[in-house]
Amino acid sequence: MKKVSISFTLNGDKVTAEVPPSWTLLKTLREYFELTGPKEGCGTGECGACTVIVDGKAVNSCIFPIPEVEGKSVTTIEGIASKDGTLHPLQKAFIENNGVQCGFCTSGMIMSAKALLDHNPDPTEDEIRTGIAGNLCRCTGYVQIVASIEKAGELIRQKK
Ligand code: FES
Ligand code: FES
Repeated sequence: MKKVSISFTLNGDKVTAEVPPSWTLLKTLREYFELTGPKEGCGTGECGACTVIVDGKAVNSCIFPIPEVEGKSVTTIEGIASKDGTLHPLQKAFIENNGVQCGFCTSGMIMSAKALLDHNPDPTEDEIRTGIAGNLCRCTGYVQIVASIEKAGELIRQKK
């Protein structure tokens, strides 16, 4: 099968993927780079399980064509902890506030929340709910998820 060479930044590192041009960013992350944090739920842009950040914006990687990633910067859940292993405030807050039940939606929830908090570290509850509106949790843990994001915002503000 014909392949294309796509170069971009992945979790801070310059990388090149040699993949068929029909592949999505999600398929490339999971099958070429073996990063399995982003999940495939619906595969059609409806559930948010595959959310990653591309150039500062949360995107559904299952419908993001890999050719469009050329030259961009991609962050996945694998890239948000510090190099020394210290968890990101969102990861800490999700653990401490029971924001994780089965965990299938968690990576996508955290990446949508990160895109929100990176731009607005003090969001209202409505802004949080809007920020994760594209992320479905079949375990219906939204109350704990919103509480986790509020707590993460607090942790981030304390650090500044
Ligand atoms: S798997 Fe991408 S939005 Fe559902
Ligand atoms: S924790 Fe199970 S889908 Fe959200």
